[in-house]
Amino acid sequence: MGLNSGEVVVGSIGDDLRMDYTAQGHVVGLAARVQQVASPGSVSVTEQTARLASGFFDFRDLGDHTFKGASVPVRVFELRGPGPIQSRLERSRARGFSGFVGRERELEWLCGAYRASVEERRPWCVTLLGDAGVGKTRLVRELWQRLLDP
Ligand SMILES: Nc1ncnc2c1ncn2[C@@H]1O[C@H](COP(=O)(O)OP(=O)(O)OP(=O)(O)O)[C@@H](O)[C@H]1O
Ligand SMILES: [Mg+2]
Repeated sequence: MGLNSGEVVVGSIGDDLRMDYTAQGHVVGLAARVQQVASPGSVSVTEQTARLASGFFDFRDLGDHTFKGASVPVRVFELRGPGPIQSRLERSRARGFSGFVGRERELEWLCGAYRASVEERRPWCVTLLGDAGVGKTRLVRELWQRLLDP
């Protein structure tokens, strides 16, 4: 199997009798070339894909390869298996967290809810809703930090 990551054009191509939904472009072509480097049963990926998935998966460096149609050599990696990281937050931790910005109102409110729950001796349940990557998990982590070290 060969994997590459980047921008592609997707759409249907074909005629009246046959319609295929497919991705096209240089990125797709390079994935096909990288596949040819893979030994049977293995998965080869380009440096772009390896970088996006680093930590989540382990890769072995197979070095630079020259491919037809690519103007510069392409670094190829072989997928070895799952990596030590399972969430984006763990990867952020491994790379070093960014400084926490804003969310003061939300943190105050959550601390208030926690205190009320302790005083009332009954559990509170709070639901955090937000788009992917907007900072839900990080907010909970900051809350714990603040409760442990006010
Ligand atoms: N207020 C903030 N200040 C600085 N960095 C932040 C803040 N909120 C989130 N981040 C950073 O943004 C990234 C994504 O945050 P997080 O993983 O908490 O999002 P999420 O909403 O839980 O995502 P998912 O929906 O994928 O679970 C992390 O690297 C996190 O450290
Ligand atoms: Mg999360």
